Amino acid sequence: MAVPAHAHRKFRRDPLMIAVLLGYDAINWVDGRISLPAPGAVRETNESIDVVVTDRIAATDDESVTAVTFAATDGAPLPAWSAGAHVDVTLPSGRVRQYSLCGDPADLSCYRIAVRLIPDGRGGSAEVHNDLVVGAEFSVGRPRNAFPLAVGGHNQTTSAVRLIAGGIGVTPVLAMLDILDRTSTQWSMIYCGRTRDSLAFLDELGRFGDRVTIREDGPHRPAGAEELLGDLACDSAVYACGPPAMIDALRGALVDRSDVEFHYERFSAAPVVDGRPFDLRFASSGEVLRVAADQTALSAILGVRADATYSCQQGFCRSCAVRVLDGVPDHRSTALSRDEVDAGYFLPCVSRAEGCLTIDL
Ligand code: FES
Repeated sequence: MAVPAHAHRKFRRDPLMIAVLLGYDAINWVDGRISLPAPGAVRETNESIDVVVTDRIAATDDESVTAVTFAATDGAPLPAWSAGAHVDVTLPSGRVRQYSLCGDPADLSCYRIAVRLIPDGRGGSAEVHNDLVVGAEFSVGRPRNAFPLAVGGHNQTTSAVRLIAGGIGVTPVLAMLDILDRTSTQWSMIYCGRTRDSLAFLDELGRFGDRVTIREDGPHRPAGAEELLGDLACDSAVYACGPPAMIDALRGALVDRSDVEFHYERFSAAPVVDGRPFDLRFASSGEVLRVAADQTALSAILGVRADATYSCQQGFCRSCAVRVLDGVPDHRSTALSRDEVDAGYFLPCVSRAEGCLTIDL
């Protein structure tokens, strides 16, 4: 069975770090069993944390990114998180979105997220910009981390870390900087975007001096992989978050560098890999849709059911899950539990099939 591209991150580290991360994953797995929303459902209030906005600022000069800080409404400390983590945010309208945490992991009195306004988006970013004013209440799930920073462990051989952020991809990277700064690890960062005005948190990055390179695309082409990677020493680790084209270029450039760890997070759907056409049949109407080889089942569903629920489009939030009533799915995500898979759930944003699937829609 094929797995999604994000499952191919390279991890090569010492046994202690592996044990620590396995323990962390086990805790998250147990936590997930308790707190993850049911597939396709918005998280119930009693499974999430009610929060209130305590501060918001424009994080870019052009005000296209808003940073929102919030605390639990009951004043209790929020759950611990680690650099690279994200939370499911249930907005006042009921929309669910995933945003990286970009505050200080040591400060559990509040969380911070930063959201770029997408004028022609699906409404989540506009709601954050318009409605998450100081005093507004909403809810969040417990932090989950699909992009952990793993350096500095016992016998860790990573000699240098290269951080690469494209646009709003700076958010998960931001919390990594303080951690790296406190270790003896050599690190550098390149942060790219259309214009300097559109780059968030430049003031916070200023304190790291010339270890952070700001790169405006301006009228030029976006930076290529060579420029983004710089001079990579042996045993380096690269952490990148940005648009799919940037991540794909980096993956291509590093494919022959077995001495370099590559960890990445994209903020939109990856292209379909090894896709074959198949059919989806709606049980309620009998309507049959053809899913093209380079198309996701979710995009085919959205073509006729614009109100279908989804969010990450990368197979980890589970909000798009539908039940399969007939046919054999090709599951390309590990976000569903064995019980959920056995119950027939399927994530159409990444998973596929051979032949025809009848779905409970
Ligand atoms: S949209 Fe997030 S898992 Fe499908």
